[in-house]
Amino acid sequence: ISLLPTDYTIRPMRRSDYHRGYLDVLRVLTTVGDITEEAWNQRYDWITSRNDEYYMLVVCDGADQIVGTGSLIVERKFIHSLGMVGHIEDIAVEKNQQGKKLGLRIIQALDYVAAHVGCYKSILDCSEVNEGFYVKCGFKRAGLEMAHYY
Ligand code: ACO
Repeated sequence: ISLLPTDYTIRPMRRSDYHRGYLDVLRVLTTVGDITEEAWNQRYDWITSRNDEYYMLVVCDGADQIVGTGSLIVERKFIHSLGMVGHIEDIAVEKNQQGKKLGLRIIQALDYVAAHVGCYKSILDCSEVNEGFYVKCGFKRAGLEMAHYY
């Protein structure tokens, strides 16, 4: 298990993380858009009302600013005797904080949650440039992603 740098913490996302730069960290991943605090609160409340399905983690630096994030969504199935599958989504580490094993630590934490809630596997989609990172996190290439955009 990799350790966080001194003074850094990893914890579940909070409603007040809107003011700790949560959305700016996500902007290293993709477009986020202009999200008002009201819209954030609505989505946050929806997500946290499903607290045995959505696990959203953040890493904070010593100044309590968010520098990394990642999510696990637990899918309940009928197959595999009512099996559960973890979906790892939206892993992002602020640009000037990359390379400090924060991404690895986020994946380890989400993996731990997935295993302990009873998932038989966790899966994710990523681009080729990130394959090496996920291999270092213990994942292996499996299958092919397809998408239908609307
Ligand atoms: N290719 C190969 N190896 C890599 C890569 C990469 N792109 N990125 C990191 N690694 C290696 C590191 O060198 C390190 O190896 P080591 O243990 O031998 O030293 C190991 O993987 C762990 O790296 P971390 O320091 O934990 O990686 P970092 O904190 O920089 O986070 C991340 C990696 C999340 C991909 C970060 O670079 C990032 O935020 N990128 C932009 C957003 C993004 O692409 N997110 C992933 C989208 S896919 C999804 O969300 C499911």
